[in-house]
Amino acid sequence: MTEQSMTGKTVMITGGAQGIGRAIAESFSAAGATVVVADRNAQTARETVDALRAKGGEALDVVADLTDPQQVSRAFDEAVAGFGELDYFVNNAGFLRSGPLLTATPADWDDHFAINARASFLCVQRAANLMIEQGRGGSIVVVSSNCARTPRMDLGAYCASKAAADMMTRCFAFELAPHDIRINSLCPGSCDTPLQREQWRSLGIGPDQQIQGNPAKFRAGIPMGRLTMPEDVAAMALMLCTPTSGFVTGQSIAVDGGQTMS
Ligand SMILES: NC(=O)c1ccc[n+]([C@@H]2O[C@H](COP(=O)([O-])OP(=O)(O)OC[C@H]3O[C@@H](n4cnc5c(N)ncnc54)[C@H](O)[C@@H]3O)[C@@H](O)[C@H]2O)c1
Repeated sequence: MTEQSMTGKTVMITGGAQGIGRAIAESFSAAGATVVVADRNAQTARETVDALRAKGGEALDVVADLTDPQQVSRAFDEAVAGFGELDYFVNNAGFLRSGPLLTATPADWDDHFAINARASFLCVQRAANLMIEQGRGGSIVVVSSNCARTPRMDLGAYCASKAAADMMTRCFAFELAPHDIRINSLCPGSCDTPLQREQWRSLGIGPDQQIQGNPAKFRAGIPMGRLTMPEDVAAMALMLCTPTSGFVTGQSIAVDGGQTMS
């Protein structure tokens, strides 16, 4: 097995049906891993799994709304029933709806926290306990956002919910280190996915304005001159599950072409 080979390993990816999650599913599958795509969208989850299988990969779709603790439990049960064990877990499912905090409703706040923070907690907790029971370590990746540490106009609820997931990741790192389980977060920048295209539509802008930056709306443009691609995030997620990153835990790593720097 080469360092990057994932043959014989199983990964579960939430929100793996499209966008960044799908790219992560494709990269793990290409590396030889067995892939569980957990998503609430049955149709796109099946399409993704069919595409992985068509390329010779072993994959399973699990349909669940991960904001519901019972569905989280069932999703993990189905994954384990399908493939036995879990080596890696990528918590990627997320939600964004832009709007100012001054006029945000309790529902706006709760919708962000339900998936970006609470579901992340439920899923990571379950994955971590499974890995502890298995007793052979593991790696967990939480897809957060560079908004977790850089405030943005009109994204207050999203930023706060991602900051919660980011800090949760670091706190879990303490508890999981004795079990040889690493956990890190990835903070993508503006990435060309359905989520981002919907945001551009609601703000009346496009990729060019995003790359250029706008002090009134975005803290910075993107110094490297292009959007984050889902494949950029997927490559880092894969790396965080290989021995290359074997002594890296509790970190929050931006994949954003310098859009934010800390
Ligand atoms: N696109 C960006 O610019 C960007 C930037 C930074 C961080 N992110 C984060 O990356 C992750 C993926 O984003 P994306 O752009 O690929 O989003 P996307 O909207 O294109 O895909 C998200 C996937 O998650 C699934 N999902 C959403 N809520 C769910 C729920 N309750 N239960 C189960 N599945 C659910 C959706 O069905 C979808 O397949 C998110 O956490 C997002 O916040 C995205």
